[in-house]
Amino acid sequence: MINPLAQELNDALKGTTPGELLSDVGTRLYFPKGIIAQSAEAKKLGKTANGTIGTTVVEGKPIMLPSIKKYVPDLTSSELVGYAPTAGNPDLRAMWKESIIRKNPLLKDKKFSLPVVVPGLTAGISYLADLFLDETKPLVAADPSWDNYVLIAEARRNAKFVQFKMFKDGKFNIEGLKETMQKQAESGSVRILLNFPQNPSGYSPTSGEAKQLVSIVKEIAEKGAKVMVWCDDAYFGLNYEDNIEKQSLFAYLCDLHENVLAAKIDGPTKEDFAWGFRTGFITFGCKGLSDAQYEALVKKLMAAIRSSVSCAATPSQSLILKAASDGKLEEEKAEFRKILERRYKLVRDFVSTHESKFIKPLPFNSGYFMSFDTMSIDAEKLRQKLLNDRGIGTISIDVKTLRVAFSSLDEEKINIVYQAIYDIADELGK
Ligand SMILES: Cc1ncc(COP(=O)(O)O)c(C=O)c1O
Repeated sequence: MINPLAQELNDALKGTTPGELLSDVGTRLYFPKGIIAQSAEAKKLGKTANGTIGTTVVEGKPIMLPSIKKYVPDLTSSELVGYAPTAGNPDLRAMWKESIIRKNPLLKDKKFSLPVVVPGLTAGISYLADLFLDETKPLVAADPSWDNYVLIAEARRNAKFVQFKMFKDGKFNIEGLKETMQKQAESGSVRILLNFPQNPSGYSPTSGEAKQLVSIVKEIAEKGAKVMVWCDDAYFGLNYEDNIEKQSLFAYLCDLHENVLAAKIDGPTKEDFAWGFRTGFITFGCKGLSDAQYEALVKKLMAAIRSSVSCAATPSQSLILKAASDGKLEEEKAEFRKILERRYKLVRDFVSTHESKFIKPLPFNSGYFMSFDTMSIDAEKLRQKLLNDRGIGTISIDVKTLRVAFSSLDEEKINIVYQAIYDIADELGK
Protein backbone atom coordinates (compact mmCIF):
# COMPACT_ATOMS: atom_id res chain seq x y z
CA MET A 1 0.00 0.00 0.00
CA ILE A 2 1.49 3.34 -1.04
CA ASN A 3 0.97 6.20 1.42
CA PRO A 4 -1.02 9.05 -0.18
CA LEU A 5 1.86 11.46 0.49
CA ALA A 6 4.27 9.11 -1.31
CA GLN A 7 1.75 8.95 -4.15
CA GLU A 8 1.74 12.77 -4.33
CA LEU A 9 5.53 12.79 -4.71
CA ASN A 10 5.38 9.94 -7.23
CA ASP A 11 2.78 11.85 -9.23
CA ALA A 12 4.94 14.98 -9.17
CA LEU A 13 7.85 12.91 -10.51
CA LYS A 14 5.76 10.94 -13.01
CA GLY A 15 7.34 10.80 -16.46
CA THR A 16 10.62 12.35 -15.27
CA THR A 17 13.94 10.51 -15.19
CA PRO A 18 14.18 10.49 -11.37
CA GLY A 19 10.59 9.20 -11.23
CA GLU A 20 11.43 6.35 -13.62
CA LEU A 21 14.60 5.46 -11.73
CA LEU A 22 13.07 5.12 -8.24
CA SER A 23 13.50 1.81 -6.39
CA ASP A 24 10.91 -0.04 -4.32
CA VAL A 25 11.88 1.96 -1.21
CA GLY A 26 12.17 5.16 -3.26
CA THR A 27 8.62 4.69 -4.48
CA ARG A 28 7.29 4.12 -0.95
CA LEU A 29 9.11 6.98 0.81
CA TYR A 30 7.20 10.12 1.80
CA PHE A 31 7.94 13.04 4.05
CA PRO A 32 5.23 13.01 6.72
CA LYS A 33 3.11 16.07 7.40
CA GLY A 34 3.85 15.20 11.04
CA ILE A 35 6.06 16.63 13.75
CA ILE A 36 8.76 18.15 11.54
CA ALA A 37 6.42 19.82 9.05
CA GLN A 38 4.02 21.09 11.77
CA SER A 39 6.89 22.36 13.84
CA ALA A 40 8.30 24.26 10.85
CA GLU A 41 4.87 25.87 10.39
CA ALA A 42 4.75 26.82 14.08
CA LYS A 43 8.23 28.35 13.83
CA LYS A 44 6.80 30.79 11.28
CA LEU A 45 3.33 31.38 12.75
CA GLY A 46 3.42 30.42 16.43
CA LYS A 47 4.05 33.92 17.70
CA THR A 48 2.39 33.43 21.09
CA ALA A 49 4.00 30.11 21.96
CA ASN A 50 5.55 27.17 20.16
CA GLY A 51 4.77 23.90 21.88
CA THR A 52 5.77 21.63 19.03
CA ILE A 53 9.34 20.48 19.32
CA GLY A 54 10.90 17.99 21.73
CA THR A 55 13.71 20.14 23.12
CA THR A 56 13.93 22.01 26.40
CA VAL A 57 13.41 25.67 25.56
CA VAL A 58 13.91 28.63 27.89
CA GLU A 59 13.10 32.11 26.58
CA GLY A 60 13.04 30.89 23.01
CA LYS A 61 16.35 29.06 23.03
CA PRO A 62 17.35 25.47 23.71
CA ILE A 63 19.10 25.23 27.06
CA MET A 64 22.65 23.93 27.19
CA LEU A 65 24.71 22.43 30.01
CA PRO A 66 27.65 24.62 31.06
CA SER A 67 29.85 21.50 30.98
CA ILE A 68 29.23 21.32 27.23
CA LYS A 69 29.24 25.05 26.55
CA LYS A 70 32.71 25.59 28.06
CA TYR A 71 34.39 23.53 25.31
CA VAL A 72 32.78 25.44 22.46
CA PRO A 73 32.28 28.90 23.91
CA ASP A 74 31.73 30.69 20.61
CA LEU A 75 28.71 28.66 19.52
CA THR A 76 25.21 29.54 20.72
CA SER A 77 22.99 26.81 22.15
CA SER A 78 21.03 26.67 18.86
CA GLU A 79 24.31 26.22 16.98
CA LEU A 80 25.49 23.50 19.34
CA VAL A 81 22.67 21.48 20.90
CA GLY A 82 19.58 22.55 18.91
CA TYR A 83 18.20 20.22 16.22
CA ALA A 84 19.10 20.98 12.61
CA PRO A 85 16.33 20.79 9.99
CA THR A 86 15.98 17.40 8.24
CA ALA A 87 17.65 18.66 5.05
CA GLY A 88 20.30 20.58 7.02
CA ASN A 89 21.06 24.13 8.12
CA PRO A 90 19.66 26.33 5.29
CA ASP A 91 22.60 28.78 5.48
CA LEU A 92 25.06 25.90 5.21
CA ARG A 93 23.17 24.48 2.22
CA ALA A 94 23.26 27.85 0.47
CA MET A 95 26.96 28.28 1.28
CA TRP A 96 27.78 24.81 -0.05
CA LYS A 97 25.87 25.46 -3.29
CA GLU A 98 27.86 28.65 -3.81
CA SER A 99 31.09 26.79 -3.10
CA ILE A 100 30.19 24.04 -5.61
CA ILE A 101 29.66 26.73 -8.25
CA ARG A 102 32.94 28.45 -7.34
CA LYS A 103 34.83 25.16 -7.69
CA ASN A 104 32.96 24.25 -10.89
CA PRO A 105 32.46 27.45 -12.90
CA LEU A 106 30.54 25.54 -15.59
CA LEU A 107 27.66 25.35 -13.10
CA LYS A 108 27.27 29.11 -12.91
CA ASP A 109 24.10 29.40 -14.98
CA LYS A 110 22.90 25.84 -14.66
CA LYS A 111 19.88 24.67 -12.69
CA PHE A 112 20.39 22.06 -10.00
CA SER A 113 19.02 21.35 -6.54
CA LEU A 114 20.08 22.92 -3.29
CA PRO A 115 22.48 20.47 -1.62
CA VAL A 116 20.87 18.38 1.13
CA VAL A 117 22.92 17.75 4.28
CA VAL A 118 23.51 14.08 5.13
CA PRO A 119 25.55 12.64 8.01
CA GLY A 120 28.67 11.95 5.94
CA LEU A 121 29.21 10.84 2.34
CA THR A 122 28.66 7.19 3.24
CA ALA A 123 25.17 8.01 4.46
CA GLY A 124 24.60 9.95 1.25
CA ILE A 125 25.55 6.93 -0.87
CA SER A 126 23.38 4.72 1.28
CA TYR A 127 20.39 7.07 0.81
CA LEU A 128 20.88 7.08 -2.95
CA ALA A 129 20.92 3.29 -2.73
CA ASP A 130 17.63 3.40 -0.78
CA LEU A 131 16.04 5.63 -3.39
CA PHE A 132 17.36 4.08 -6.59
CA LEU A 133 18.61 0.49 -6.06
CA ASP A 134 16.75 -2.73 -5.46
CA GLU A 135 16.77 -6.37 -6.54
CA THR A 136 15.98 -5.38 -10.11
CA LYS A 137 18.17 -2.26 -10.26
CA PRO A 138 21.92 -2.94 -10.25
CA LEU A 139 24.72 -0.50 -9.52
CA VAL A 140 27.73 -0.26 -11.85
CA ALA A 141 31.11 0.76 -10.41
CA ALA A 142 34.80 0.34 -11.13
CA ASP A 143 36.94 -2.67 -10.28
CA PRO A 144 38.70 -2.01 -7.95
CA SER A 145 36.32 0.15 -5.92
CA TRP A 146 35.96 1.38 -2.35
CA ASP A 147 34.72 -1.69 -0.45
CA ASN A 148 31.74 0.10 1.09
CA TYR A 149 29.94 0.33 -2.29
CA VAL A 150 29.39 -3.40 -2.60
CA LEU A 151 28.33 -3.61 1.04
CA ILE A 152 25.72 -0.89 0.51
CA ALA A 153 24.45 -2.16 -2.86
CA GLU A 154 24.45 -5.91 -2.25
CA ALA A 155 24.11 -6.47 1.48
CA ARG A 156 21.79 -3.56 2.30
CA ARG A 157 19.78 -3.26 -0.89
CA ASN A 158 20.05 -6.73 -2.42
CA ALA A 159 21.01 -5.02 -5.69
CA LYS A 160 23.55 -6.51 -8.08
CA PHE A 161 26.96 -4.84 -7.99
CA VAL A 162 28.32 -4.86 -11.55
CA GLN A 163 31.97 -3.90 -12.02
CA PHE A 164 34.00 -2.89 -15.05
CA LYS A 165 37.78 -3.24 -15.08
CA MET A 166 39.00 0.27 -14.32
CA PHE A 167 42.33 -0.13 -16.10
CA LYS A 168 43.49 -1.93 -19.21
CA ASP A 169 47.04 -1.89 -20.56
CA GLY A 170 48.02 0.66 -17.93
CA LYS A 171 45.26 3.11 -18.93
CA PHE A 172 41.78 4.11 -17.79
CA ASN A 173 39.51 1.53 -19.44
CA ILE A 174 36.82 3.80 -20.89
CA GLU A 175 35.90 1.18 -23.47
CA GLY A 176 35.18 -1.33 -20.66
CA LEU A 177 33.02 1.24 -18.88
CA LYS A 178 31.12 1.95 -22.11
CA GLU A 179 30.47 -1.74 -22.83
CA THR A 180 29.24 -2.36 -19.28
CA MET A 181 26.94 0.67 -19.39
CA GLN A 182 25.58 -0.28 -22.80
CA LYS A 183 24.82 -3.79 -21.62
CA GLN A 184 22.97 -2.44 -18.56
CA ALA A 185 21.10 0.05 -20.74
CA GLU A 186 19.39 -2.85 -22.51
CA SER A 187 17.15 -3.11 -19.41
CA GLY A 188 16.01 0.49 -19.97
CA SER A 189 18.10 2.12 -17.24
CA VAL A 190 21.65 2.32 -15.87
CA ARG A 191 22.91 3.47 -12.48
CA ILE A 192 26.65 4.06 -12.34
CA LEU A 193 28.83 5.31 -9.52
CA LEU A 194 31.94 7.21 -10.58
CA ASN A 195 34.43 8.28 -7.94
CA PHE A 196 37.27 10.67 -8.84
CA PRO A 197 39.91 11.04 -7.43
CA GLN A 198 39.34 7.35 -6.99
CA ASN A 199 39.61 5.17 -3.93
CA PRO A 200 41.64 2.90 -4.05
CA SER A 201 43.61 3.68 -7.25
CA GLY A 202 44.10 7.42 -6.79
CA TYR A 203 43.17 7.99 -10.44
CA SER A 204 41.29 10.93 -11.94
CA PRO A 205 40.42 11.27 -15.62
CA THR A 206 42.20 13.75 -17.85
CA SER A 207 40.08 16.45 -19.50
CA GLY A 208 39.98 14.35 -22.66
CA GLU A 209 38.83 11.25 -20.80
CA ALA A 210 36.18 13.24 -18.91
CA LYS A 211 34.82 14.45 -22.27
CA GLN A 212 34.66 10.87 -23.49
CA LEU A 213 32.81 9.77 -20.34
CA VAL A 214 30.25 12.52 -20.80
CA SER A 215 29.68 11.63 -24.44
CA ILE A 216 29.17 7.94 -23.55
CA VAL A 217 26.47 8.94 -21.06
CA LYS A 218 24.89 11.22 -23.65
CA GLU A 219 24.89 8.57 -26.36
CA ILE A 220 23.17 6.04 -24.08
CA ALA A 221 20.62 8.65 -22.95
CA GLU A 222 19.91 9.68 -26.56
CA LYS A 223 19.06 6.08 -27.39
CA GLY A 224 16.30 6.22 -24.77
CA ALA A 225 17.73 4.62 -21.60
CA LYS A 226 17.51 6.47 -18.30
CA VAL A 227 20.98 7.02 -16.88
CA MET A 228 21.79 7.93 -13.31
CA VAL A 229 25.36 8.92 -12.54
CA TRP A 230 26.45 9.09 -8.91
CA CYS A 231 29.49 11.37 -8.72
CA ASP A 232 31.36 10.50 -5.52
CA ASP A 233 33.51 13.62 -5.21
CA ALA A 234 34.88 12.77 -1.74
CA TYR A 235 38.44 13.72 -2.73
CA PHE A 236 37.51 16.66 -4.98
CA GLY A 237 40.31 19.11 -5.67
CA LEU A 238 43.23 16.86 -4.69
CA ASN A 239 44.77 16.86 -8.17
CA TYR A 240 48.53 16.60 -8.56
CA GLU A 241 48.95 16.65 -12.37
CA ASP A 242 48.07 19.43 -14.82
CA ASN A 243 46.17 17.32 -17.33
CA ILE A 244 43.48 16.21 -14.85
CA GLU A 245 39.92 17.44 -15.44
CA LYS A 246 39.43 20.19 -12.87
CA GLN A 247 35.64 20.20 -12.62
CA SER A 248 33.35 17.53 -11.26
CA LEU A 249 31.61 15.33 -13.84
CA PHE A 250 28.42 16.61 -12.19
CA ALA A 251 29.03 20.01 -13.83
CA TYR A 252 28.82 18.35 -17.25
CA LEU A 253 26.05 15.87 -16.47
CA CYS A 254 23.50 17.91 -14.51
CA ASP A 255 21.92 19.33 -17.68
CA LEU A 256 23.23 16.90 -20.30
CA HIS A 257 19.94 15.30 -21.35
CA GLU A 258 16.40 14.79 -20.02
CA ASN A 259 17.23 11.09 -19.56
CA VAL A 260 20.22 11.77 -17.32
CA LEU A 261 19.94 12.24 -13.57
CA ALA A 262 23.21 13.29 -11.92
CA ALA A 263 23.76 13.11 -8.16
CA LYS A 264 26.77 14.76 -6.56
CA ILE A 265 27.99 13.30 -3.30
CA ASP A 266 30.50 15.54 -1.62
CA GLY A 267 31.35 17.25 1.63
CA PRO A 268 33.92 18.58 4.04
CA THR A 269 35.07 15.08 5.11
CA LYS A 270 38.22 15.17 2.99
CA GLU A 271 37.85 18.55 1.25
CA ASP A 272 37.99 20.40 4.56
CA PHE A 273 39.98 17.80 6.48
CA ALA A 274 37.04 17.18 8.84
CA TRP A 275 36.67 13.41 8.66
CA GLY A 276 34.83 12.85 11.91
CA PHE A 277 32.31 15.67 11.45
CA ARG A 278 29.96 13.31 9.64
CA THR A 279 28.66 15.96 7.29
CA GLY A 280 28.09 15.43 3.59
CA PHE A 281 25.83 16.71 0.82
CA ILE A 282 23.68 15.26 -1.91
CA THR A 283 22.90 17.51 -4.89
CA PHE A 284 20.72 16.53 -7.85
CA GLY A 285 20.73 17.77 -11.43
CA CYS A 286 18.49 16.68 -14.32
CA LYS A 287 17.76 18.64 -17.49
CA GLY A 288 14.25 20.01 -17.69
CA LEU A 289 13.19 19.24 -14.12
CA SER A 290 10.82 21.91 -12.75
CA ASP A 291 11.15 23.47 -9.30
CA ALA A 292 8.22 21.36 -8.07
CA GLN A 293 9.88 18.20 -9.39
CA TYR A 294 13.19 19.06 -7.70
CA GLU A 295 11.22 19.64 -4.51
CA ALA A 296 9.55 16.22 -4.79
CA LEU A 297 12.93 14.55 -5.37
CA VAL A 298 14.47 16.34 -2.39
CA LYS A 299 11.44 15.34 -0.25
CA LYS A 300 12.13 11.67 -1.13
CA LEU A 301 15.70 12.16 0.10
CA MET A 302 14.47 13.94 3.23
CA ALA A 303 12.20 10.95 3.86
CA ALA A 304 15.21 8.63 3.71
CA ILE A 305 17.00 10.88 6.24
CA ARG A 306 13.98 11.31 8.51
CA SER A 307 13.35 7.56 8.61
CA SER A 308 16.95 6.67 9.51
CA VAL A 309 18.82 9.34 11.51
CA SER A 310 16.17 12.10 11.50
CA CYS A 311 18.79 14.78 10.82
CA ALA A 312 22.56 15.28 10.74
CA ALA A 313 24.45 16.60 13.78
CA THR A 314 24.24 20.33 14.47
CA PRO A 315 27.71 21.22 15.89
CA SER A 316 29.57 20.11 12.76
CA GLN A 317 27.19 22.01 10.51
CA SER A 318 27.65 25.17 12.59
CA LEU A 319 31.44 24.83 12.64
CA ILE A 320 31.70 24.30 8.87
CA LEU A 321 29.50 27.31 8.24
CA LYS A 322 31.58 29.50 10.57
CA ALA A 323 34.85 28.26 9.09
CA ALA A 324 33.58 29.04 5.57
CA SER A 325 33.10 32.68 6.48
CA ASP A 326 36.63 32.87 7.86
CA GLY A 327 38.80 34.61 5.30
CA LYS A 328 41.72 32.29 5.99
CA LEU A 329 40.03 28.98 5.19
CA GLU A 330 41.11 28.65 1.55
CA GLU A 331 44.71 29.56 2.37
CA GLU A 332 44.80 26.99 5.18
CA LYS A 333 43.33 24.29 2.97
CA ALA A 334 45.90 25.03 0.28
CA GLU A 335 48.66 24.50 2.86
CA PHE A 336 47.22 21.11 3.82
CA ARG A 337 46.81 20.14 0.18
CA LYS A 338 50.51 20.91 -0.31
CA ILE A 339 51.40 18.33 2.36
CA LEU A 340 49.54 15.70 0.35
CA GLU A 341 51.07 16.85 -2.93
CA ARG A 342 54.61 16.56 -1.53
CA ARG A 343 53.85 12.99 -0.43
CA TYR A 344 52.41 12.20 -3.86
CA LYS A 345 55.58 13.49 -5.54
CA LEU A 346 57.79 11.33 -3.31
CA VAL A 347 55.71 8.24 -4.10
CA ARG A 348 55.74 9.11 -7.80
CA ASP A 349 59.55 9.50 -7.71
CA PHE A 350 59.96 6.18 -5.95
CA VAL A 351 57.78 4.13 -8.29
CA SER A 352 59.24 5.74 -11.39
CA THR A 353 62.79 4.88 -10.33
CA HIS A 354 62.10 1.33 -9.11
CA GLU A 355 61.10 -1.72 -11.12
CA SER A 356 59.52 -4.89 -9.84
CA LYS A 357 58.81 -8.11 -11.69
CA PHE A 358 56.03 -8.87 -9.24
CA ILE A 359 54.02 -5.71 -8.56
CA LYS A 360 52.94 -2.81 -10.75
CA PRO A 361 51.47 0.53 -9.66
CA LEU A 362 48.03 1.20 -11.10
CA PRO A 363 47.71 4.62 -12.76
CA PHE A 364 47.48 7.34 -10.11
CA ASN A 365 47.56 11.13 -10.18
CA SER A 366 45.31 12.44 -7.37
CA GLY A 367 43.64 11.90 -4.01
CA TYR A 368 44.84 10.04 -0.94
CA PHE A 369 45.88 6.65 -2.31
CA MET A 370 47.75 4.63 -4.86
CA SER A 371 47.45 0.90 -5.42
CA PHE A 372 49.63 -1.87 -6.74
CA ASP A 373 48.47 -4.60 -9.05
CA THR A 374 50.12 -7.49 -7.24
CA MET A 375 49.78 -9.73 -10.32
CA SER A 376 50.49 -13.34 -9.33
CA ILE A 377 51.22 -12.47 -5.68
CA ASP A 378 48.31 -12.69 -3.23
CA ALA A 379 47.79 -9.11 -2.02
CA GLU A 380 46.65 -10.35 1.38
CA LYS A 381 49.88 -12.35 1.83
CA LEU A 382 51.87 -9.26 0.86
CA ARG A 383 49.90 -7.16 3.35
CA GLN A 384 50.40 -9.64 6.17
CA LYS A 385 54.11 -9.99 5.58
CA LEU A 386 54.53 -6.21 5.44
CA LEU A 387 52.72 -5.95 8.73
CA ASN A 388 54.30 -8.88 10.54
CA ASP A 389 57.91 -8.59 9.25
CA ARG A 390 58.21 -4.82 8.86
CA GLY A 391 55.44 -3.36 11.00
CA ILE A 392 53.91 -1.57 8.00
CA GLY A 393 50.16 -1.32 7.59
CA THR A 394 48.57 -1.36 4.12
CA ILE A 395 45.21 -2.60 2.78
CA SER A 396 44.54 -5.58 0.55
CA ILE A 397 41.49 -4.50 -1.40
CA ASP A 398 41.18 -7.84 -3.20
CA VAL A 399 43.54 -10.71 -4.12
CA LYS A 400 45.51 -8.59 -6.58
CA THR A 401 45.23 -5.03 -5.27
CA LEU A 402 47.29 -3.57 -2.44
CA ARG A 403 46.31 -0.03 -1.42
CA VAL A 404 48.70 2.42 0.20
CA ALA A 405 47.27 5.58 1.77
CA PHE A 406 50.20 7.93 1.23
CA SER A 407 47.94 10.59 2.78
CA SER A 408 48.76 9.09 6.15
CA LEU A 409 52.51 8.58 5.66
CA ASP A 410 54.90 11.23 6.91
CA GLU A 411 57.37 12.24 4.21
CA GLU A 412 60.34 10.57 5.89
CA LYS A 413 58.50 7.25 6.00
CA ILE A 414 57.64 7.08 2.32
CA ASN A 415 60.90 5.58 1.01
CA ILE A 416 61.01 3.10 3.90
CA VAL A 417 57.46 1.91 3.23
CA TYR A 418 57.87 1.63 -0.53
CA GLN A 419 61.27 -0.08 -0.32
CA ALA A 420 59.69 -2.62 2.03
CA ILE A 421 56.78 -3.23 -0.37
CA TYR A 422 59.17 -3.88 -3.28
CA ASP A 423 61.48 -6.07 -1.14
CA ILE A 424 58.65 -8.23 0.24
CA ALA A 425 57.08 -8.54 -3.22
CA ASP A 426 60.47 -9.83 -4.45
CA GLU A 427 60.63 -12.34 -1.61
CA LEU A 428 57.09 -13.59 -2.23
CA GLY A 429 57.46 -13.63 -6.00
CA LYS A 430 60.61 -15.73 -6.16
C1 LIG B 1 35.39 7.17 -2.24
C2 LIG B 1 34.85 7.51 -0.90
N1 LIG B 1 33.59 7.94 -0.79
C3 LIG B 1 33.07 8.24 0.40
C4 LIG B 1 33.80 8.12 1.55
C5 LIG B 1 33.13 8.35 2.88
O1 LIG B 1 33.14 9.61 3.36
P1 LIG B 1 32.48 9.91 4.80
O2 LIG B 1 33.56 9.66 5.81
O3 LIG B 1 32.04 11.33 4.71
O4 LIG B 1 31.33 8.97 4.99
C6 LIG B 1 35.12 7.68 1.50
C7 LIG B 1 35.90 7.55 2.76
O5 LIG B 1 36.82 6.84 2.90
C8 LIG B 1 35.65 7.35 0.24
O6 LIG B 1 36.91 6.89 0.13
